[in-house]
Amino acid sequence: MISQATHKINLCNQGLALKALFTGYLVVVAIGYAMALVQIQFTHGLADGELGLSVDDIVYSYYGKRSGSVIEAKLNGSMQVMAPDADRLKIINWVHKGAEEQAFHDMGIRKIMDTNCIMCHSPDSGMPVPDFTKFENVAKRAETDTGASFSSLARVSHIHLFGISFIFMFVGLIFSLAAGVPKYLKAGVIVMPYVFLIIDISSWWLTKLNPIFAWLVIIGGGAMALSFAFMWIVSMYEMWIMPRKVCDTRAALLDE
Ligand code: HEC
Repeated sequence: MISQATHKINLCNQGLALKALFTGYLVVVAIGYAMALVQIQFTHGLADGELGLSVDDIVYSYYGKRSGSVIEAKLNGSMQVMAPDADRLKIINWVHKGAEEQAFHDMGIRKIMDTNCIMCHSPDSGMPVPDFTKFENVAKRAETDTGASFSSLARVSHIHLFGISFIFMFVGLIFSLAAGVPKYLKAGVIVMPYVFLIIDISSWWLTKLNPIFAWLVIIGGGAMALSFAFMWIVSMYEMWIMPRKVCDTRAALLDE
């Protein structure tokens, strides 16, 4: 007697044509995934000057390298002796706060520079150094890298949301026909990439505001990759390796 459940659609009892279609799609999407990982290494992996993706890379890419201004580097380097520590820190603090012209006067930076810097950093000194009597010359050296711009974040976010949800639509659809996975686990694995895609992309924006969220970027991306790998391996296994008989009885069992 043939039970109803054995007639249910599953991956192993598909015809060759549909298996070929699913397999072709899964293979190409996996290569695409690998290429994306390579590209991440090039765009973000090198942000901290070292190969390999790290939390620092994510921070530099989205939050920026705010201690990266020339003026801060010099004040911790060859210009360290030029001003008392308290004044140096005031200048650095002003740079971190965005190096605004109004604050340049309000925070007393103008006065500090007049006392400590312009004896050399002015045209009168005759030294070949930038003239700090002019605000724009100071501003240029106080520029910091504030990471990804909001407009580029918006662009990259919408491309990823559309593109990745599309990929997971089909990977999930194929995997939903798996016979050997209990239904709650299956539903969980199918929905996981969508949840973590949203977490991943929100955390790009959050990292732009606060570097602590760089961890969430890594967790989001990692969880997405994990669910992809799980669905991919199970689907391929059931289509090409799992014996038809085992598959059908599994499907019947799980259905009850
Ligand atoms: C005794 C002279 C002297 C004084 C005082 C001085 N500087 Fe300089 N500064 C130099 C010289 C010389 C250089 C170029 C050599 C170097 O970069 O170390 C320089 C370079 C710099 C640069 C790099 C400019 C560039 O674009 O390459 C910055 C920034 C700077 N100084 C900041 C300061 C600040 C801020 C102060 C005051 C707290 C200060 N300096 C005081 C002599 C001075």
